[in-house]
Amino acid sequence: MCGIVGYVGQQNVVDVVMGGLRRLEYRGYDSAGVAVVAGDEVLVRRRAGKLANLEKLLADKPLPAATFGMGHTRWATHGAPNDRNAHPHLDEAAKVAVVHNGIIENFAALRSHLEDNGVTLASDTDTEVVSHLLAEQFDGDLAEAMRAVCRKLEGAFTLVAVHADQPDVVVGARRNSPLVVGRGDGENFLGSDVSAFIAHTRHAVELGQDQVVELRADRVDVTTFDGQPAEVREYEVDWDASAAEKGGYDYFMLKEIYEQPKAVADTLLGRIDDEGLLQLDEMRLSDEDLRDVDKIVIIGCGTAFHSGLIAKYSIEHWTRIPVEVEVASEFRYRDPILGRRTLVIAISQSGETMDTLMAIRHAREQGSRVLAICNVNGSTIPRESDAVVYTYAGPEIAVASTKAFLTQIIAVHLVALYLAQVRGMKWSDEIARHVDDLAAMPEAVDRVLDTVGPVRALARELVDARAVLFLGRHVGFPVALEGALKLKELAYMHAEGFPAGELKHGPIALIEEGLPVVVVVPPLSRKVLHDKIVSNIQEIRARGARTIVIAEEGDDTVAPYADTLIPVPAVPTLLQPVVAIVPLQVFACELASAKGYDVDQPRNLAKSVTVE
Ligand code: F6R
Repeated sequence: MCGIVGYVGQQNVVDVVMGGLRRLEYRGYDSAGVAVVAGDEVLVRRRAGKLANLEKLLADKPLPAATFGMGHTRWATHGAPNDRNAHPHLDEAAKVAVVHNGIIENFAALRSHLEDNGVTLASDTDTEVVSHLLAEQFDGDLAEAMRAVCRKLEGAFTLVAVHADQPDVVVGARRNSPLVVGRGDGENFLGSDVSAFIAHTRHAVELGQDQVVELRADRVDVTTFDGQPAEVREYEVDWDASAAEKGGYDYFMLKEIYEQPKAVADTLLGRIDDEGLLQLDEMRLSDEDLRDVDKIVIIGCGTAFHSGLIAKYSIEHWTRIPVEVEVASEFRYRDPILGRRTLVIAISQSGETMDTLMAIRHAREQGSRVLAICNVNGSTIPRESDAVVYTYAGPEIAVASTKAFLTQIIAVHLVALYLAQVRGMKWSDEIARHVDDLAAMPEAVDRVLDTVGPVRALARELVDARAVLFLGRHVGFPVALEGALKLKELAYMHAEGFPAGELKHGPIALIEEGLPVVVVVPPLSRKVLHDKIVSNIQEIRARGARTIVIAEEGDDTVAPYADTLIPVPAVPTLLQPVVAIVPLQVFACELASAKGYDVDQPRNLAKSVTVE
């Protein structure tokens, strides 16, 4: 949700910033802009649409070489996605420029205050008030002005600003939105995430809540909004620039789909200690706390919510602790029953999703403990949680989540087993057996990827379909939801996932001649469920549906009812989502590509949703 880059150093700022924006474009692509300081004024180039439009503008109207400045790629909240509302925003004297990610909730009152003082605003954004307020407060020290302005702001914001009268200084601030510092040698960077500067340095500094950072080429000073020096955490990013490149694939999404075996293997690495006991990353909860848990609530959004649905099956099965799963955006508004003995598990790839973050804060206010499952080290959600299990998917650039989903499934199974271990529900040899099952997943996913050719052909054949339905039972139901979500977001098609048993209670009325229906069949070992879904397939086929059946290899019972059969390796039931979702990811990717849509940057979406 908006990408921000800031730079001060020896290189030409436009080159550095444009490189960073290219890597951050997945966060929003409604407009893009850069600002540099030359002489005593700030110069800005900004353009609606994708970064390519800004690149063209810069080619036609280059900016002078400069050594400090910033850039922005926008996901519009306030104001249409046009040139006028593109960031950076200036004050009336064109002395200060500001970029912003988030929403300033009291911007209407601030706008009235400025208008009463005779200021004319040039855009419809909430952001622009900040540039005028900074101009109003500036007295030679931009960081001081930023602190004063931040104290007046309500809502969520990352801000970065430069002032023409304070050369070689870039100032950033954050509340509830991400901002990371990259430390270089004689140069420093700011980015919404580390990919903004990973081509230059892997040395990062995590900023805390309500902090202002003042960046010079040779130093980084961090304070609270009140001006007190702040403690920060420094860390090394454990992936390099090549991880954020397409590496020969047409799309990041395809590359990330093919990275899944490695992502799963990395997430499993080093989990068993010398005594055969399972280890998690940052467990600031004692065994006693975990033994005391009497209810688990899992929260997440979109794909992360779907992995939460899968987690319910493994946690309840292995630990017998009751589990509720809820969409994070709904959670705190229904006054959920939480207490000290409730463990909340928050799942988030980015670690910045505002709906999930707000749900976590609510849970902690009620005295509950929070365990985060997250892919981004140093992001806000793990920082605000009591324990963390990291997924090691590496950077996920495509807007549609793929490898994060698979690693989240692995992580939730690890958490389930860990709880079972701590609570004495499983012996270490049983845990080791389950971990062996998990360890077989990379190879199983590899085998699926080796056989997806027919799925791609099917996608091209169905390019004109109006809708696709997805059915599943048990852990196949979240797979159906996830398959439908991928198709909606990438191919802009009507796609719905249903529990197959619900079909006869309404959705069967949607079945018409030729409607493609994807069915995820449980393993043969789950005979009762399996047989029921085979009946469901027959029911829809009798009504004209085109059946696309995902079933385990060797399941001959479904073949007679499948117009297209997609075999996947036989794995334990609770792990079936890991193999069953892969063909559906490929299906959505290929269908979107066949329609000529932008696979990596689907319309209206952004990768990290940092507004509620
Ligand atoms: C779907 C997708 C989104 C995210 C959701 C949560 O492909 O990417 O539905 O899963 O926005 O994001 P995180 O996991 O970053 O909290």
